[in-house]
Amino acid sequence: MNIIVKKNADEVSKEGANIFIEEINKKPNIVLCLATGSTPQGLYKELIKANKNNEVNFKRVKSFNLDNYIGLEKNDINNYDYYMREKLFNHINIDKENWLVPFVNEENYETYCKEYDQLLEESGIDLLLLGIGENGHIAFNEPSDKFSVGTHIVDLDEKTRKANSRFFDSIEDVPKQAITMGIGSIMKAKKIVLLAIGEKKKEVIKKLLSAEKIDPQFPASILLAHRDVTIITEEALYDKN
Ligand code: GLP
Repeated sequence: MNIIVKKNADEVSKEGANIFIEEINKKPNIVLCLATGSTPQGLYKELIKANKNNEVNFKRVKSFNLDNYIGLEKNDINNYDYYMREKLFNHINIDKENWLVPFVNEENYETYCKEYDQLLEESGIDLLLLGIGENGHIAFNEPSDKFSVGTHIVDLDEKTRKANSRFFDSIEDVPKQAITMGIGSIMKAKKIVLLAIGEKKKEVIKKLLSAEKIDPQFPASILLAHRDVTIITEEALYDKN
């Protein structure tokens, strides 16, 4: 794992965005996989700026998303489809047909997960963006006895619901389930960039950087087995010891 330590959150976002811009410029029909939450918002702002300044072109870029809640309409402000439109896609020159955020309803769980995996498999992911949960989750792959392979439905950890309740009126409104790409699909991405910002991530980043073994109870530890992972974090979170 490569680790890049920047002065502050803004610099982390800029560094992450520069990697994306460089990779898109190298391969204009690149396939991305994107994340939601607080962490990538600065990076998305940088990508919008770069697109407006003609430093990067999304015309041929294809994009998937890691995960989404279940039970929220697409236009609910907490649905990740809405998030991606608001925070990025509505502001760049990506084609509507070229991005997809997973979205399921109770009737189509099984077929949808299979179809999503098939699309991921056919496209192949070149560059994947990750945040990290305080409990070590990546996408919505929560601590568990074993790693998942493909896209599946998860019961959200109470810690995750609590952490994400800041986006909702109350914790009761946070969905109990989500759809997420599996660890297997994440690991197939050619290149992974993980961003960590904010004091609350200090412990989990320390744990990840000192991890010696892969443990499904600490999902992010799987990244030890990937050959191209870059972790970008801020000075305040980085404990050299
Ligand atoms: C969320 C998302 C993850 C995200 C993580 C951290 O619930 N499902 O993909 O990386 O938890 O979120 P944040 O960046 O808001 O701290």
